[in-house]
Amino acid sequence: MSRRQEQAAIRANGRLQGEYFRVDFDAPGIVPHVRPGQFVHLQLPAFEHRVLRRPFSIFDVDLATGRLSVVYKVVGEGTQRLSSLDAGVCVDLMGPLGNGYSDAPSGNRPVLVAGGYGCAATYLFAKRSPVPCTVLIGGRTEGDVLLTDAYEALGCDVRVSTDDGSLGHKGLVTELLEAVLVEESNSTVVACGPNPMLRAVGMVCETHGIDAQLSLDHVMCCGVGACFACVVKIKTDNEDGWEYIRTCKDGPVFRASQVNWD
Ligand SMILES: Cc1cc2nc3c(=O)[nH]c(=O)nc-3n(C[C@H](O)[C@H](O)[C@H](O)COP(=O)(O)OP(=O)(O)OC[C@H]3O[C@@H](n4cnc5c(N)ncnc54)[C@H](O)[C@@H]3O)c2cc1C
Ligand code: FES
Repeated sequence: MSRRQEQAAIRANGRLQGEYFRVDFDAPGIVPHVRPGQFVHLQLPAFEHRVLRRPFSIFDVDLATGRLSVVYKVVGEGTQRLSSLDAGVCVDLMGPLGNGYSDAPSGNRPVLVAGGYGCAATYLFAKRSPVPCTVLIGGRTEGDVLLTDAYEALGCDVRVSTDDGSLGHKGLVTELLEAVLVEESNSTVVACGPNPMLRAVGMVCETHGIDAQLSLDHVMCCGVGACFACVVKIKTDNEDGWEYIRTCKDGPVFRASQVNWD
């Protein structure tokens, strides 16, 4: 098992844009074991009466220096508290957790589809891909579109959509996906974002004969498979046709064909 727990000092913590922040940790024990799509479970220091850890996708790692980076949106008390922590403060990190994405078969074009902070979960896949990826980033508005520069610096073909048309294509990111798959159906699709977006990505891919890899978002407690707070329905061959499995341990990445959305 590659899971580690360490007191990780914050190197830098600051706002990217709007409610989105990036934090860099010193985590040399975790970093060498990280695969794209995995996450860390973070315990905030001196956060009284809030004992539960918070899960965050691992955005980036630097093997040479032991840096581990997370991109997060402030949505509640925990992320608000995280945004207030200064460099030098230690945070208890557990990770890497979850299964992560599988590599694209050689000859396939990798297409990454991300919504909101989901673009943090797919970045390492692009960074480690032997061929440049096509990256489709969707947001409600311009302020929800992140990391385009970071993907472009990797040589990715980045295309953007917003619901209100304030940046890029006006409409859904799945409309961009449809256009890309019409151009080139021999693609591996990797996605992270809100669950309705993931469901739509799975359906578009299915019409092109592609079984997308979806990183599901689910509220978690233990993060290591012990409490069953994070179960999702997965299709099976048993008489019910489905069973519950744990997002934290058996996921968060699932094949679209596995997920029972009912
Ligand atoms: C595998 C995984 C990876 C994640 N990666 C990232 C990431 O890279 N960046 C990032 O910003 N967030 C990420 N999240 C979501 C993040 O864990 C939550 O936003 C965070 O725990 C909220 O903590 P809080 O104390 O600020 O909010 P809380 O006070 O706990 O909740 C505030 C609001 O946020 C909602 N919320 C809480 N958890 C989630 C969740 N998992 N998904 C959607 N809504 C939630 C609550 O329902 C509530 O409405 C990830 C979640 C999972 C399961
Ligand atoms: S969060 Fe406890 S089993 Fe997944």
